Amino acid sequence: MPESRHPMLRPVQSVSVFGLGKLGASMVGCFASAGMRTIGVDINPASVRAVNRGRAPVEEPGLQSLFTRYRRRISATRDAAAAVGTTDASFIIVPTPSRPDGSFNSRFVEQAVRTIGQALRNHRSYHLVVVTSTVLPGTMKQRILPVLERASGRLAGRDFGLCYSPEFIAIGNVIRGLLHPDFFLIGEHDSRAGSRLESIYRIQGGPRTPIVRMSMVNAELTKISVNTYVTGKIAFANQLARICDRLPGGDAFTVAQAVGLDHRIGPACLKPGPSFGGPCFPRDNRAFAAVARKRGLRAPAAEATIESNRAHTRFLQHYVEALKPAPSARLAVLGLSYRPGTGLLEESCAVELAHAWSVSGPVSVHDPLADPGEIRRRLPGCSRARTVPACIRNADIIVYATDHEAYRPIDLKHVARLAPGAILVDVWGRWASATTPDGLSYRTPGFQTANKHDTITSRGWKGPT
Ligand SMILES: NC(=O)c1ccc[n+]([C@@H]2O[C@H](COP(=O)([O-])OP(=O)(O)OC[C@H]3O[C@@H](n4cnc5c(N)ncnc54)[C@H](O)[C@@H]3O)[C@@H](O)[C@H]2O)c1
Repeated sequence: MPESRHPMLRPVQSVSVFGLGKLGASMVGCFASAGMRTIGVDINPASVRAVNRGRAPVEEPGLQSLFTRYRRRISATRDAAAAVGTTDASFIIVPTPSRPDGSFNSRFVEQAVRTIGQALRNHRSYHLVVVTSTVLPGTMKQRILPVLERASGRLAGRDFGLCYSPEFIAIGNVIRGLLHPDFFLIGEHDSRAGSRLESIYRIQGGPRTPIVRMSMVNAELTKISVNTYVTGKIAFANQLARICDRLPGGDAFTVAQAVGLDHRIGPACLKPGPSFGGPCFPRDNRAFAAVARKRGLRAPAAEATIESNRAHTRFLQHYVEALKPAPSARLAVLGLSYRPGTGLLEESCAVELAHAWSVSGPVSVHDPLADPGEIRRRLPGCSRARTVPACIRNADIIVYATDHEAYRPIDLKHVARLAPGAILVDVWGRWASATTPDGLSYRTPGFQTANKHDTITSRGWKGPT
């Protein structure tokens, strides 16, 4: 039944967000920006303290300015009952770590749900519970719903609402992803809960953003399907790079660009570069394959994507090793995080490469956003440089591994002066159409510089950017 046909429900004015991590803290800022009083709940006292002092508990572009601007509407607590008791809806965005078989462990979600359920025992008005953490198909109905009903002593659909509503965001671009998503996905236990959540998303996303409603199990499958499909596109573009590397005259950037012009395919995420990594892509892919296996099936497409991604990291490793003038040549790696705009090093291609290269020779690394301690922990065999010049000075090979905004001002003439005779391996194809200054050699995996005339100039595309 649509929200409007439930006259006893006043519009949602306040929400709780359980989990003040990379995603949850951003949700707090975005709900507050949409006018809702927002209470963050976390078991970590430092995160709660930070929020109550007006500080964003995690680094994410644009987040602190939301916390500053909407401070009046934002607070935090460790007291779940107080938060549930004074808000209309609770969102749960706590970790769901991967198990060795690729499936997810939902125990943190269950813990959060249990405390919410206990708080709902004495709650007389309708409260909506929304799980945003990524969970596997079947988890909501088989695990979350029973925990919530048992802890609350109440009935979903009648006394409280339950939805599964994951977000599709990329770290470094979370605020934009939350405020302007391609669509909002609602997996609903019942239509009343779905309508309630739809009313929140209408406040947050305005009237134009599509809202897709379905059962909880289908929403669970949709979430991991999106990431599995997107990683398939990235792996395909990287496969093109490996083929073009062996194809005289091959240019994977031009081919991928043309392939993406087909309306059935589209250009997004279809560009050669590093292997995909980070906290979501690889693990959602593995989870998709695990979901199939659990049902006695194989998921060959997802498995091939994982294998192709591994093969790409190996390809990049050997590509650079083959360029070394001597086994002990000095390597410099610019950028370590798994994507631009974040300092996260989880399953990062650049980290894996730097580690592999450091086994045979000196490797200096730099990342403008990654935590120095984390770099030291993951790359004990590399030397961490504080600045770009310190990283590349006198290097034999410079690998441009993460296309950070902070690297925009890099000038190749300056690079040539700091590392005379060096080879620049540009994994992103950033300088493929630029003139290479004397004293510097240039390589882009999958792109041969002699091919510049092949680019799709009629569309204004002048080569890899
Ligand atoms: N980070 C991403 O790019 C991304 C994207 C889409 C989906 N997700 C999913 O979002 C979920 C959370 O991811 P994240 O990156 O924000 O995690 P995170 O590790 O950055 O933060 C999780 C937070 O939850 C808190 N927490 C743990 N148990 C709690 C409890 N019982 N009550 C209250 N707080 C609790 C932790 O203290 C921490 O602050 C995961 O399921 C992840 O798969 C993440």
